[in-house]
Amino acid sequence: MYNSIKTIRYMGNKNKLLDFIIPEILNNSSKDDVICELMAGTNCISYALKDKRKLYTNDIQYYSYIISNALIKNNSKTINSESAKKDLEEKFKTNLVKHEYNFFEKNYSDTYFSSNQCIEIDSIRYAINFINDMDIKSLYLVALMNAMCVCEVTSGHFAQYLPSDHPRLEKIKHKSIWDEFLKKCNDFKKIVFSKFENKCFNLNYEELIKLPEFNDVKLVYVDPPYTGEQYSRFYHVLETICKYDNPKLEFKGLYRTDRFTSSFSLRTKAFDEFEKLFSALASKNKKIVLSYSTKGLIKEYEMEYLLKKYFKNCETKRTSYNHSTQGKGNINLEELLFIAYN
Ligand SMILES: C[S@@+](CC[C@H](N)C(=O)[O-])C[C@H]1O[C@@H](n2cnc3c(N)ncnc32)[C@H](O)[C@@H]1O
Repeated sequence: MYNSIKTIRYMGNKNKLLDFIIPEILNNSSKDDVICELMAGTNCISYALKDKRKLYTNDIQYYSYIISNALIKNNSKTINSESAKKDLEEKFKTNLVKHEYNFFEKNYSDTYFSSNQCIEIDSIRYAINFINDMDIKSLYLVALMNAMCVCEVTSGHFAQYLPSDHPRLEKIKHKSIWDEFLKKCNDFKKIVFSKFENKCFNLNYEELIKLPEFNDVKLVYVDPPYTGEQYSRFYHVLETICKYDNPKLEFKGLYRTDRFTSSFSLRTKAFDEFEKLFSALASKNKKIVLSYSTKGLIKEYEMEYLLKKYFKNCETKRTSYNHSTQGKGNINLEELLFIAYN
């Protein structure tokens, strides 16, 4: 019913919950209101709203900002497999021979990807670097991230790779990243454009809400992490392919050492972090629509207690749904939506 487009495999993405969430955002705003998606991840909520509202998006992770640029801010550019061959194939082939870009080959061969796949990843990234248009560059980066998610030797995220004798490996390690990349480019032949000038940010939410632009915002949609898993650890490889900044790596999972730690994912800090968030949004007179799970670090009654402390009006909606635990099967959860305003 709402516009949607597949980007990356992402823990907690709201693609399957659009019918539950989008009507509430629409009913609680009017068509001239600016909606801010404070922690946008795959940006699927903003994409579903793109033909209906003006949007500001934000996330602390750079790969999410790249998705925002490609799909939310971008209002005129598309790509396809033919444009990709024309724009990138020659440079891609040059790097296959010269290995000028080789960070993935040097660091990730036979871990999350085979050695050949790493060379392909470096080479596509090398070719993308020659694209100057930020919208087109972002679209190609999203297509590359998607190809990496299709070929990753993992159970669905980059916290650890599967052992080399795992049966799934044979099938995945022979897949061509270049072929998957071209396939994905065709998905971006047509994307939704907006009559509004949307804006994208790559900040800790605390910084974003201090910006003058934030005064334009009427309603804030927040989908914070609800488990103890840090997104920066689960998706470090996507951060690195977008930044391509030769980071220092650590531990068996080869994580970037400069990972952001979100307090929403720390049992000892999550409650205080929500209090800080609600107090700041209430003081700026924003309406809040907040997604959370009944299996989250903060209990439903705690969330309601905090919201009622700062907002005069607060209601809770719920739906049950089948949630993929990224490798550990499916479990049945209740998804909550808190709506609060003064
Ligand atoms: C549950 S995910 C959002 C999923 C998104 N709604 C979707 O459908 O793809 C939570 C997001 O919060 C971001 N995040 C965590 N702490 C943050 C902070 N302090 N400031 C900004 N973003 C943060 C993470 O990077 C992650 O992308």
